[in-house]
Formats: sequence, structure tokens, C-alpha cells
Amino acid sequence: MNIQPLLARRTEGLRPSPIRKLNPLMRIPGMISLGGGYPNAETFALTSMEVVFKSGRKLQIRDKSMDLACQYGPTDAHADLKPHIIQWHSAKDGVELKGDQIQVLNGAQEGLHTMAYLFLDEGDSVALSEPAYPGAMAAFRAFTQRFLPVPLDAQGMITTELERLLAKRKAAGESLPKFIYEVPNGNNPAGVSLSLERRSHLLQLASKYNLLILEDDPYQLVQLEDRNLLPTIQSLDTEERVLRLDSFSKIFAPGLRLGYASGQADIIRYFQLYKQGSNLHTSAMDQALLAGFLASHSHEEFRALVRENCKIYRRNRDAVLAAAKRVLPPDIRYNIPQAGMFLWFELPERFDTDRMMELDGVELGIILLPGSAFSTTGGLKNHMRASFSMILPEQAEEGMMRFFRMIERERKRTGGEGL
Ligand SMILES: Cc1ncc(COP(=O)(O)O)c(C=O)c1O
Repeated sequence: MNIQPLLARRTEGLRPSPIRKLNPLMRIPGMISLGGGYPNAETFALTSMEVVFKSGRKLQIRDKSMDLACQYGPTDAHADLKPHIIQWHSAKDGVELKGDQIQVLNGAQEGLHTMAYLFLDEGDSVALSEPAYPGAMAAFRAFTQRFLPVPLDAQGMITTELERLLAKRKAAGESLPKFIYEVPNGNNPAGVSLSLERRSHLLQLASKYNLLILEDDPYQLVQLEDRNLLPTIQSLDTEERVLRLDSFSKIFAPGLRLGYASGQADIIRYFQLYKQGSNLHTSAMDQALLAGFLASHSHEEFRALVRENCKIYRRNRDAVLAAAKRVLPPDIRYNIPQAGMFLWFELPERFDTDRMMELDGVELGIILLPGSAFSTTGGLKNHMRASFSMILPEQAEEGMMRFFRMIERERKRTGGEGL
């Protein structure tokens, strides 16, 4: 697909950095470079580092590898990391990426911001399932306030609703969204995953209306049941409409801020142009740590470690679900998440969860996130998100008891009978 007509006007000013262009030339053996303004490696404050991974294997960074990890590096990826990402992506998703289809990011979050920067002019809109990840809305809101929310159910975004919405806008001569944003696995906050049928339908709609899809998939491997992964939307795409964001936050370490965008080389080129002006490149040291990990752990070993970690999340989910079943009244509805870290509660219509948190949260000693944080309009006030990622299973019963007390206080305030 040709992205040129969709780009935001501000991208017209993006130019390749003359200094960054020199970077590959400086690596040609025998080259005498007076070009780049890089600090001399002899001045770096670090000489060596040893990292011990959970598997017990060690990574030594020293000498030339330390210089590289401390020095400015290429914008797209640390040279050692890119081949690993290509292999990782191919083994995980069955998609073979070329070198110019990858941009390493400071987490998927940077990808959300970059997509918004590249494609959203004021007045443009984004279609997305609601409830939606607040971090994505924050990234998009820096450029536009217009969202086209699509409801979701246990199978993820209801794509027939999206179809209706797009057809209606087209018939009325209204502008179409610049892209469709979707979290296909373990949706934050709804906990649901997009069915295979709807993944295909989404692509059909994108093709029919000439739209991009932003596939934000940080919970892909945070699977809570033993079942095969569904194909990614990108892997089903034959028209290069999908810009996919992978994140190492939930499977490696979030504080390192590592993720990558993949997709059409033309979009990735714009990602690079923008990153040259925003932060030059993702930390070379963090990339070196990931590259070192991927070099010493096979794909199967990494996946096995992630599966082991998922057992912690499954244990927590089951503890919270069991407690919720025992303690919560029948008019509190919730999904059973198959992936991710979140339970999404629906409370009686008249409940105001912002008020509940404000008046009772601290006093009762319980925190859940009010639904309004996940709404494009400040609605969804009778919903709440509970994250079970960090809870200790033995806290689950008490946590749900406190939630119950909070619910009953609100019930009284809104004129309902206490249970
Ligand atoms: C749906 C979704 N997208 C993106 C992110 C950001 O991920 P990263 O840490 O890779 O920036 C999160 C973090 O919680 C998330 O839930």
C-alpha cells in the first residue's frame, strides 16, 4: 500500500541527519573518520560488566563490545541485535523481516507515539476498540482528539461494528480514520483476545477502505492457557498495511525499554527519520544486553522461560477469579482473561467508579483503576480494571473482600439495597 497520502503534513519537514548517514561509513575498515562528533571510547566511564541471566548463564561485556555498548550507535538497531530480532520474529510469527523493516524502539510506547506523529494531523481520527489502553490514547491525543470507538466483546473488537461505522462515514462523505489501533492479545484493560475470524475481517476492512492497522501486541506471549498462538494480524496481511509493535517489557524486563516496530520499509524509514530527531537511537547498552541474552538462549529456551513466567500470572489470575467468585455479588460481571494481566469488571449502570476510588479506595485499602481512564470520552464509569500481575495469591481473598465493601458503599449511595 502507498502510505504517502496518509502521512501527516509535519512529515514533509523530516530530513535524514547528515551525521547519522555517516555512521555506516565509519565502520568501513581502514576509514579515517573526521566526520562524526562521537566521544572517544577511551573517555567512557565503564570498562566491563557481567550480567547473570535467570538461567544462570553469564554475559561479559568488555573491550570492543563495551565500547560499542557505550558509544552512539545506528538509529535502526544495534548491529548485534538486528539478526536476532529477524530470527526471533520469524520463529515466533512466521514472518520473515528484511533489515529495512525493523526499527528498535524505547518500548512499544515509542511506536505508538511515532505512529501518531507520522500519521495524525489535527482533526484526523483513529479507530480503536473501547475500552482502550490509556497510554495509546495519550500518544494519539498529542496530535488529535478524535477517536472512533468500536465496542468489544469476549472475541475482541466487534469488527462488524467497525464495518458499519466505516460504511456510514463513507456514505456520509466523512473522513475515514488514518489507522485502526488494536491490541490483539490480552487486551489492556478488557483482557480479551481478537479471534482469528476478526483478525481476517479487520484486514479485509483495512483493504476495502485503504487504512493502516497499528497492531500493538505486548501480551502476545503472556498466555494464560496452554494453547497455540493465533496468527498475528501482520502475518495474515498481504498488502503491507500492518505496522506491528513488539515489546520485550512483559517477557524480558520493562525498565530496559526495549521493543521494535516492523512493517513496510517505507513506514520504517519514516520511523527512523523521526527517531533521528527525537532520541537518536534506543540505548546501545540495553540493546547489547538483549542481544547477549538472545545469543546465549535459543528461541525455544526463551519461549520456555516466558511460559514458566506465565504460570505466575495464571496462578494469580486463578486466585483472583476464585476469590471474586466467592465474594462478589452476582451483578458484578467480569471476563475470564486468556492472556495478559487484566480483569475488567462491569458494575451496575448507576455506579461511578471514579467516585468509589476517590471516596473509599484509600480508606478501604484497595486500588482498582476506574473505567473512565480507558474511555475515549471519560465514559465507562461503571467499569473497573483489576491487574492481577503483582498480587500475592494469599492477598486475593482480602482484596476481593475490600472491593466488595467498596461496591456495597456505592450501592447505598446510589439508592440500592445492600446485599
Ligand atoms: C497495550 C499496551 N501497549 C503498549 C504498552 C507499552 O509497552 P512498552 O513497555 O513496550 O512501552 C503497554 C504497557 O503496559 C500496553 O499495555
